[in-house]
Amino acid sequence: MADSPTDPPEPQVPAVAVGDLLPRLDRGEGVLLLDVRNDEEFESWKVEARCPVETVHVPYFDFIEDAEAAMARVPRGRDVVVLCAQGGSSEMVAGMLQEAGIPAANIEGGMIAYGVYLEPLRVPLAAAEAARFELWQVNRRGKACLSYVLVSGGEAVVVDPSRHVEWYEGFVAERRARVVRVLDTHVHADHVSGGPDLARRLGVPYFVAAGEGFELRQPVTPLGDGEVLRLGGREGVAIEVRAMSTPGHTPGSTSYLVGGCSLLTGDTLFVSSVGRPDLGGHVVEWGRALFETLNRRLADLPEGTVVLPAHYGGASEISEAGVVSERLGHLRRSVPEMRIATAEAFVEAVRGAIEDPPKAYAEIIRVNLGAPASEEQIAEWELGKNQCAAKHAAGA
Ligand SMILES: [Fe+2]
Repeated sequence: MADSPTDPPEPQVPAVAVGDLLPRLDRGEGVLLLDVRNDEEFESWKVEARCPVETVHVPYFDFIEDAEAAMARVPRGRDVVVLCAQGGSSEMVAGMLQEAGIPAANIEGGMIAYGVYLEPLRVPLAAAEAARFELWQVNRRGKACLSYVLVSGGEAVVVDPSRHVEWYEGFVAERRARVVRVLDTHVHADHVSGGPDLARRLGVPYFVAAGEGFELRQPVTPLGDGEVLRLGGREGVAIEVRAMSTPGHTPGSTSYLVGGCSLLTGDTLFVSSVGRPDLGGHVVEWGRALFETLNRRLADLPEGTVVLPAHYGGASEISEAGVVSERLGHLRRSVPEMRIATAEAFVEAVRGAIEDPPKAYAEIIRVNLGAPASEEQIAEWELGKNQCAAKHAAGA
């Protein structure tokens, strides 16, 4: 039935976008997060920020069963934002709170929006490097996944892009550059790579190495160990990206040394742990390979080399500049697994530090090797923060 002209208009529930909310949480502005997901969803995946996020958990069904009692659990006089899985239940709860005179806003898109939000941060470089190129770390906050955009002289390389490829196209266009290569450090297990799709859309070469034992059905342009890509030469500003075979997390894992000073390590080495070598079911073999990589392959790199990984574990790993990075020399001394003397002891330590990966990881690996999957399946498999490191082993 049509509304009569005399009916009051439906009250609008204020909405806040994830991209506007996260900076406020990062600054510790005193926002109170009211999470209305069920217990299991709440326990398995939470919103995180650079400051602790003050959260109250009152499931949506509590509001349905006894709204008054549920609302009594929401502290008064606070700036409340309401969160659910997709933004629907939270909108209803925010509306109920508003009606009861409690100011509240709905987080648009809920955890789904949080899980795909991308935040670019410029990696600080020494003056000599900054004159030649810019390097951006793109933080997929909800999954703690990091991808990279390297720009020099109007050309760009994208490394480990997530599947939201339009974002990367727009970001590179804003920098007045064009993508000339797309690279993955390895066949990811925790998220579906956007690499093949981005390369296909732009008509540029794509590279990932799956390694022995995997049938890769994605078309790739091979990039051998030690091979160098030159970037930005059109405008006389050339930098080199050197591929380094760094097996262990996966047999094909490849790191990229940018400008001789910044090392994109993928899930080989993080800023407080090392990658887990168990995801293929060969923890001893892959663990030994990872030990060799960390202790021999990376041994010649200078202490000052800046390590930029593909994942992180938590806010404590983010620098004041907002970037996840650390000097290789520091990691050699501070990461416990980097101080282990023998391959046997390393494998034992790593094996003892890892838990079973989420079941969805096997599905995601299949998709990244080239198997088809629907958008709905992928979205479901990608739910949750990465479980990637090998101490709390980061790196899937
Ligand atoms: Fe990985």
